Amino acid sequence: MNILLFGKGGQVGWELQRSLSVLGTVTALDHDSADHCGDFSHPEGVAATVRALKPDVIVNAAAHTAVDKAESEPELARLINATTPGAIAREAAQLGAWMVHYSTDYVFDGSGTTPWVETDATGPLSVYGRTKLEGEQLIQQATPRHLILRTSWVYAARGGNFAKTMLRLAQERERLTVIDDQWGAPTGADLLADITAHAIRHLAQHPEDAGLYHAVAAGETTWNGYAKYVIAQAQKAQAALKIVANEVAPVPTSAFPTPAARPHNSRLNTSKLQTTFGITLPHWQTGVARMLTEILGTP
Ligand SMILES: NC(=O)c1ccc[n+]([C@@H]2O[C@H](COP(=O)([O-])OP(=O)(O)OC[C@H]3O[C@@H](n4cnc5c(N)ncnc54)[C@H](OP(=O)(O)O)[C@@H]3O)[C@@H](O)[C@H]2O)c1
Repeated sequence: MNILLFGKGGQVGWELQRSLSVLGTVTALDHDSADHCGDFSHPEGVAATVRALKPDVIVNAAAHTAVDKAESEPELARLINATTPGAIAREAAQLGAWMVHYSTDYVFDGSGTTPWVETDATGPLSVYGRTKLEGEQLIQQATPRHLILRTSWVYAARGGNFAKTMLRLAQERERLTVIDDQWGAPTGADLLADITAHAIRHLAQHPEDAGLYHAVAAGETTWNGYAKYVIAQAQKAQAALKIVANEVAPVPTSAFPTPAARPHNSRLNTSKLQTTFGITLPHWQTGVARMLTEILGTP
């Protein structure tokens, strides 16, 4: 199987390089790759790459993920999150190739407290959410041979992330306030990459299972609950901290105004994914604890 991976340097893209390697030959590109265009601000160049490489499967982990910045550069966000994925999907249709793509809880308006299912009405609150939704739609229109995984609150051991920021702040500050009215599930990039590899193998046998799925770790929390868990784990690992977990103060979203509005309810129902692909999603704490062990050493 020949696999073409876009966005190889991102959180999910990096983990995909590992997970996809057991499925076949992976050509992994990022925006400044030399031999083939992987720059999503050039839809024609990226489409030409697909035509030249003729992959069996295209996995797109590239995206404009700077949610606040997207508010001031909507054209670029649209190009990267919608126009170019749409162009890839049209090339995939010509080739008969599969296209795998990632989307987001930000396609929803965040109302209510019930976990969203795939068929729920969307209502993005931000440029990022709107452009990601348009990307989904362009792919769905272009080819039935697609897998779109909507996920949330992605973290990875590599690079910066929320957990690392909380650890640093807990070492530096005696007071910490973290939002407690946005609900979701922190989801590891490694988990998403493993789900992707499993699903690609499954779809080769069951093409009728193509479509849109919600893919997040099990359980739910707020950013405040997430921060408390991270700091409690650091306490167990005897890290030198100036604050203990239960001192992390809860504040509403309005305490930290941002250019882009965030959904309050980012809970995603993953029953369809688990049933269709026969997988069990681990609790979010399992993945976060593992990542923290990598950062902090064994507790
Ligand atoms: N992060 C989250 O919390 C989250 C939540 C829900 C859904 N998702 C979705 O999950 C997928 C993977 O996200 P992630 O967390 O792995 O994001 P990420 O770490 O920000 O990676 C995004 C990748 O896209 C690349 N990229 C940006 N502009 C590009 C361009 N013009 N051409 C080509 N590549 C470009 C980035 O490269 P540079 O870094 O070099 O610019 C980076 O490698 C995305 O579809 C995202 O929308 C993410």
